[in-house]
Amino acid sequence: MRLALALPVIGTGAMAVAFALLKGGPPLTVEDDNKIKDLLKGYKARLLPSPERLAEVEAEFLTQMRDGLSKRVVVDGKRMMMLPTFVTRLPDGTETGECYALDLGGTNFRVMHVRLGPSKGEVTACDVEEVTLPKEIYTGPGDKLFDYLATTLKSFIDRHRGSAAAAATSAPPFQQLQPSQDQQPLPVLGFCFSFAVEQDGLASGKLLAWTKGFSCPGVVGNDPCALLSAALERVGRPCRVAALLNDTVGVLAAQRYLDSDTEIGVIIGTGTNACYVERLTALSKWEPPAGHAASGDGRTAINMEWGAFFSPQLPRCEEDLQVDAASPHPGKYLFEKLLSGMFLGEAARRILFTIATEVEGLFRVRAEDVQAVLADAREASIGNMAYATAAATIPKPLATPGSLSSATLSAIVHDRSWGLRKTRRLLVSELGMHQPSTRAAAVVKEICTLVAKRSAQLTAMAVLAILRHNGWAESSPPRPVTIAIDGGVYERFTAYRAMLSRAVSEQLGERSRTLFPLIKFVLSHDGSALGAAVLAAAAVTGR
Ligand code: BGC
Repeated sequence: MRLALALPVIGTGAMAVAFALLKGGPPLTVEDDNKIKDLLKGYKARLLPSPERLAEVEAEFLTQMRDGLSKRVVVDGKRMMMLPTFVTRLPDGTETGECYALDLGGTNFRVMHVRLGPSKGEVTACDVEEVTLPKEIYTGPGDKLFDYLATTLKSFIDRHRGSAAAAATSAPPFQQLQPSQDQQPLPVLGFCFSFAVEQDGLASGKLLAWTKGFSCPGVVGNDPCALLSAALERVGRPCRVAALLNDTVGVLAAQRYLDSDTEIGVIIGTGTNACYVERLTALSKWEPPAGHAASGDGRTAINMEWGAFFSPQLPRCEEDLQVDAASPHPGKYLFEKLLSGMFLGEAARRILFTIATEVEGLFRVRAEDVQAVLADAREASIGNMAYATAAATIPKPLATPGSLSSATLSAIVHDRSWGLRKTRRLLVSELGMHQPSTRAAAVVKEICTLVAKRSAQLTAMAVLAILRHNGWAESSPPRPVTIAIDGGVYERFTAYRAMLSRAVSEQLGERSRTLFPLIKFVLSHDGSALGAAVLAAAAVTGR
């Protein structure tokens, strides 16, 4: 009653909605329940491609791969770039030496120190430090980004060398004392820079496009190695940047150091991409460096930039178009927007928002939020039924971009608690819902699962396309193949791993029984940084 007196301009219809919601909302009608079933069915059909549709997507993927190998790079963000990496010899475990690595993959970057021991594949020391980049750094001027990286790297190296020197001082007399910093040779650095770079040497190239929310001006078209070297000079810690590589190449190299069956490196994290080993004869657009004639057995790793793949046959719904339109680089990297951790949660959130508008009262709103909305409406003197109803039936966070993270999506997919208690708790804390019902939680779980499954199915399609392109399935007998894989989605989302394996097995069809056991996905934790260090070590020792 107090509410009614306080809100003379709110219409009676809006009041009724508000009161119903304040009381916890009316139960769903049979009609609502049927509507939910239809909506879920519709999303399932749109998000999970039929085998025929998937085959069409794969055919286009293979065509784009071949085109990219033979034609000059086109940077329109709508096709794979198939970039030669100048890595013509992958590690075989015999590399030795001491190196640093800088791994800029997303909004977190890592610095690493590695010592490769004398035994095959032996890593005798490995220190890693992870740092979060502030938003103003990854969207601000390029110089500032490289200064930030150089400053962090400098303190890591100084600290590291300091403690190494201290350890040497207290070491038994037969160990040599470290010479002073000035007399030390320049630290050797592998630079893992996880963006599309057209390389013109193992340690040089130019950035073609930013992705993953980065937008620092002054870097596209320039050499990230030169920019890093200049920044390291500025902070007074020059290094020898011996290798520049994509994270997929790092993961491939790191796993290859341990397992010679490794042929593909994949990242499913904030962004997504793959690289694989290609015959130089198939790479007709590329002039290999001297000593690697494009005949016979020559091979090189190709950074595909598969995130830029696009086909009109890709399974996308209206909400995917919205995700793209609101992204930092609209119209580009559309495959990435269906696969990677930066977009999974947001696609699910937008779908859930649509469902909330279709089935009023499925996701209840907190009483204080309804009151706040009504108070706003009163202040603005808008006794508008539509406004009050919409605002009172959709929790505000659910209407807010970015409020459903991919980490929350994965927690929801994993939820096996009684009555989906964990999901209901997350819906309250993350999406501002009021006493979500088990039905509401089940709808959210189903949408999150569909979005994750689509990603896994498309990843499986792309990996199998690479294997088909390489003639793997036709070789007799097919050899075992290891796919090194890293990235937060794969690493932390265990149900995703199962979805990926299942999708690979299903897509192999009737040959699955013989072929599936030969494919091994191996998590290459920190592989990108380790690979950078191993490739840098190989480069300086001329191995
Ligand atoms: C970048 C790739 C990178 C991938 C995974 C994409 O956005 O364009 O170069 O390998 O993210 O980090």
